[in-house]
Amino acid sequence: MSQKPSVLFVCLGNICRSPLAEAAFRARAEEAGLDVETDSVGTAGYHIGEPPDLRSIAEAANHGIDISGYRGRQLSADDYTRFTHILALDHSNLADIRERAPANSTAKIALLLDQVPTRKGSAVDDPYHDGADMFALTWKLVDEAAKALVAELRDGSD
Ligand code: 4NP
Repeated sequence: MSQKPSVLFVCLGNICRSPLAEAAFRARAEEAGLDVETDSVGTAGYHIGEPPDLRSIAEAANHGIDISGYRGRQLSADDYTRFTHILALDHSNLADIRERAPANSTAKIALLLDQVPTRKGSAVDDPYHDGADMFALTWKLVDEAAKALVAELRDGSD
């Protein structure tokens, strides 16, 4: 791949799941010495400029990562050419991303857990109305995907 890998993680609000996906991917890429760009956004604009949900901040802190400085942003048309990969946390996010894709889109658009062979076709469900245990599950899933994605990008198979 000639363009540096750049991965955008997309959920609905950009305060619960996609900031954790971004954090896990950032950490796994750094650990592997892989040079990447990454960001996360929401399909909705409810939380633009806001920090992540306190439960996501706490879950990331459980893994030694500070995401309190992340700020909510909404998916924009520029993202489709700026990023090599746009990865959706659930099927509804995936449908929205595809529906809004501009004609000049170059990004590979996929479901995040399609990166994990044993979880293909699965969603990372919205934990917004749940407790800390669902945020722990969210971390487990996004971290599995981050590891798989880093391995794939490092091996140059994508
Ligand atoms: P996220 O969770 O998509 O994982 O960030 C949500 C956060 C907020 C809302 C929905 C989902 N909301 O409706 O405000």
